[in-house]
Amino acid sequence: MDRLRIKGGNKLKGKIYISGAKNAALPLICASLLTDEAVTLTNMPVLSDIKSMNLLLEQLGTKIESHDEIIDGNPCKSYTYHTPKFESLVAPYDYVRKMRASYYVFGPLLARERYVELSLPGGCAIGARPMDIHLSSLEQMGAKIEIKNGYVIAKVDGRLKGAHLVFKAASVGATCNVLMAAALADGKTVIENAAREPEIGDLVNMLNAMGAKISGIGSSVLEIEGVERLHGTIHKVIADRIEAGSYAVAAAITRGCIELVNAQPETLQTPIKILRQAGVNVEEREHSIVVDAEGCELIGQDLMTDYYPGFPTDLQAQFLTLMLTARGASMVTETIWENRFMHVPELLRMGANINVHGHASAIVRGVDKLYGAPVMATDLRASFALVLAGLVAEGETIVNRIYHLDRGYEKLEEKLRSVGADIVRESDKEEE
Ligand code: EPZ
Repeated sequence: MDRLRIKGGNKLKGKIYISGAKNAALPLICASLLTDEAVTLTNMPVLSDIKSMNLLLEQLGTKIESHDEIIDGNPCKSYTYHTPKFESLVAPYDYVRKMRASYYVFGPLLARERYVELSLPGGCAIGARPMDIHLSSLEQMGAKIEIKNGYVIAKVDGRLKGAHLVFKAASVGATCNVLMAAALADGKTVIENAAREPEIGDLVNMLNAMGAKISGIGSSVLEIEGVERLHGTIHKVIADRIEAGSYAVAAAITRGCIELVNAQPETLQTPIKILRQAGVNVEEREHSIVVDAEGCELIGQDLMTDYYPGFPTDLQAQFLTLMLTARGASMVTETIWENRFMHVPELLRMGANINVHGHASAIVRGVDKLYGAPVMATDLRASFALVLAGLVAEGETIVNRIYHLDRGYEKLEEKLRSVGADIVRESDKEEE
């Protein structure tokens, strides 16, 4: 198993290229299943979650070609997905257990092939993660659904039918799944209380380029006029706002200055507001964000996670860690996931002063120093928070179980080293 060894204390300065968004790319890959023509996705991040999704699609019968490309001087990948016919309509347990986002094949398979078997994902480290909104919506669109041996089996006679749906929570996953299914349904579907995350906008843009008729982009009411067939397209994945926000905190916590090249400031308005209130200078440019904390004395800020455009839960752990280096107390409240303070016990081992109240909130008090320690985390964003703590801690921090980071941060140590961090990856194999 690999681990990261970090020596804290370096001020980070320079430029970091922000990759394509993992959470946009995953549903986009599955949207390619809606057509028998080729779909090419450019600006794709190279991450283990993308590899897992590619393996799942290959198992379903998709032919995938990868190409190297250069965007804004940065080497990245594009992939062409082509599924003229399916070899399987089953998303097996071994794929879904590794990556919950495998459930994005559900809507497309049901819409195009009228049948799908998906291993039910179950909970994970951050919460119970139900799928009830996905399933009840597709039932309202005419699917017959049963749960058997841990699998959800769905079928529909003829095409899915458009329906008026009101989501009880603005779920990103359910919005994507229903959008993809409704694109090929018979008649009009309306989703009320749809998620408004930028990744949804990216999916809508690509589906419309494939011939779908979807309106309401960026709003909480989406209207989808179903069409009989969709065609191929070429689509550039949007920049990863969570990766950008994470490196913004790396600049702020080390009191350095980083330009986040290719970041889209309009997708990060709430985190930018919190950084500015804390005393960090943030300059929004057309295709980048400059985060400058040189000489800043940060002031603690309260923050509460919420659906977009509120503060993203996927940046909570990173901002909580930043507040450890600020003056005064900060109250951090998590409203999306019921178990998302798993980074706190590890931060306490590094000298943090944090009191968690129930599962929902934490009081963070600024400390003079954090101290390096061996740590490990149970999810992707919490792992990045430990890297951040390591960057400012006195001495050496070893972050274990970094396969979490490899799921969502492309070339993490390379990017951090390029702005001056002392960070190396070690693996047991190399030591043997
Ligand atoms: C997406 O998860 C992201 N994952 C998560 O990022 C992110 O934390 C989350 O959205 C919220 O922004 C991907 O995009 C692959 P939801 P998703 O459905 O779609 C409730 C990361 O670190 N809900 O929007 O699974 C649910 O319990 C990951 O990259 C239901 O009640 O999240 C939660 O409270 C972690 N019933 C809320 O909605 C349902 O059927 C939001 O969940 C579905 C969800």
